[in-house]
Amino acid sequence: MGLLDGKTGIIFGALNDESIAWAVAEAAKREGAEFVLSNAPVARRLGSLDELAESTGSSIIWADATSDEELADLFEQVKEEHGPIDFIVHSIGMGVNVRKDVPYEDLNYNWYQKTLDISAVSLHRIVHHALDQEAIKDGGSIVAMSYIGAQRIFSKYSEMGDAKALLESIVRAFGYRLGKRDIRINAISQSPTKTTAGSGIDGFNAMYEFAERVSPLGNADAESCADYTITLLSDYTRMVTMQTLYHDGGFSSMGISDQLVEAMEDSFGDDE
Ligand code: NAI
Repeated sequence: MGLLDGKTGIIFGALNDESIAWAVAEAAKREGAEFVLSNAPVARRLGSLDELAESTGSSIIWADATSDEELADLFEQVKEEHGPIDFIVHSIGMGVNVRKDVPYEDLNYNWYQKTLDISAVSLHRIVHHALDQEAIKDGGSIVAMSYIGAQRIFSKYSEMGDAKALLESIVRAFGYRLGKRDIRINAISQSPTKTTAGSGIDGFNAMYEFAERVSPLGNADAESCADYTITLLSDYTRMVTMQTLYHDGGFSSMGISDQLVEAMEDSFGDDE
């Protein structure tokens, strides 16, 4: 539909073809955008970003999203290549304690800080450096990926719930300040999605299947998340900012569904 015709941007966080950011890049290309792709230098070895760069005609700038120096260089290069850009997509996350199976009560605080730095503070850094380098246009749009674990406890999500709560708070705090330049910033709160980061969470399959059975529309996949992201990068949502927008097939409005009631009755026995 050409929703992003003439727009330029940067998309952080595509690792492989399961990544949400990968789907966002393909959808952005389809809608007419030109963009730079970025990921941490270590992802060069772990993922297949070169493939995506080739298929979307994009360049790659490797940068650790926790490094001010690398982000400053990145936005300088982005500006050289495209001039000031119209959009930024932040699709970065990692829970270090979660990865290493450390329970919430016993968090290793160095790892906890790393988790918050990678998964939340990186959004602040990215926006800061984009502004500092005058690399984002007035009227631009910024989108970050979040999860309902920011508001509610999903036991195995552990420290990542804190990281997402911080991420969403940064969305609001920056949203206020970006408003004077008509730049908007929102978080998409996405269904459990089968990706590298998703599958790194202990109990992910249970969370996925639970949400699938509770959500009236079922779980939203990466492709539908990408389509939703495109609407937020387009001019049609120019008055939407500072929001956490649920893209979850209705999960966030549900308590329990018939399907789950029946499954629970089957496993625990119906006492009627
Ligand atoms: P993914 O593993 O494909 O993407 C995570 C990305 O973060 C990777 O590309 C990784 O290289 C990047 N990253 C990690 N450390 C970095 C650093 N220091 N600097 C720069 N990049 C770094 O997984 P997915 O699921 O596509 O994750 C994207 C976003 O979506 C994350 O914010 C995640 O929390 C969020 N999300 C994922 C859900 C899921 O169930 N998969 C559900 C809701 C939100």
